[in-house]
Amino acid sequence: MMKHLLLLLLVAVANAKIYERCDWAKTLKAKNMDGYRGVSLADGVCLTQHGSNFNTGAINRNTDDSTDYGIFQINNKWWCSDGGVSRANGCGIRCSELQTDNVETAIRCAKRIVDQQGVRAWVAWKAHCQNRNLSSYLRGCNL
Ligand SMILES: *[C@@H]1O[C@H](CO)[C@@H](O)[C@H](O)[C@H]1NC(C)=O
Repeated sequence: MMKHLLLLLLVAVANAKIYERCDWAKTLKAKNMDGYRGVSLADGVCLTQHGSNFNTGAINRNTDDSTDYGIFQINNKWWCSDGGVSRANGCGIRCSELQTDNVETAIRCAKRIVDQQGVRAWVAWKAHCQNRNLSSYLRGCNL
């Protein structure tokens, strides 16, 4: 029993990835997140740093019992389904798809959130990025 549990944990860890800041900025840029609907690359780096510390495996429970998944900390109440409190599955995905080292799905879902609600959908953005000088988030990155 313990052995199986340990194996599951190892698999979960192996599939997640923690990005280095500039590597993540480059990935976002390559996926057209530089100026997507007016959201700057620095906004994207800032909100993900404060949301997940660039960890694709990040999971956090909110006070309303909803859960945020992955590098963008996307919420299961409205955007993905984990069989829990989901009411809408706006991105049409399983929440676990947001936690892998393949960030395609997470980025596509983040764009959909921006399409519908803008960058202010992210509490971390409002708390740490809005009306701030974000130049440090891209500093030293060879973009
Ligand atoms: C932001 O900060 C950088 C250095 O920290 C500075 O060079 C730049 O002028 C600032 N930008 C604004 C708009 O204040």
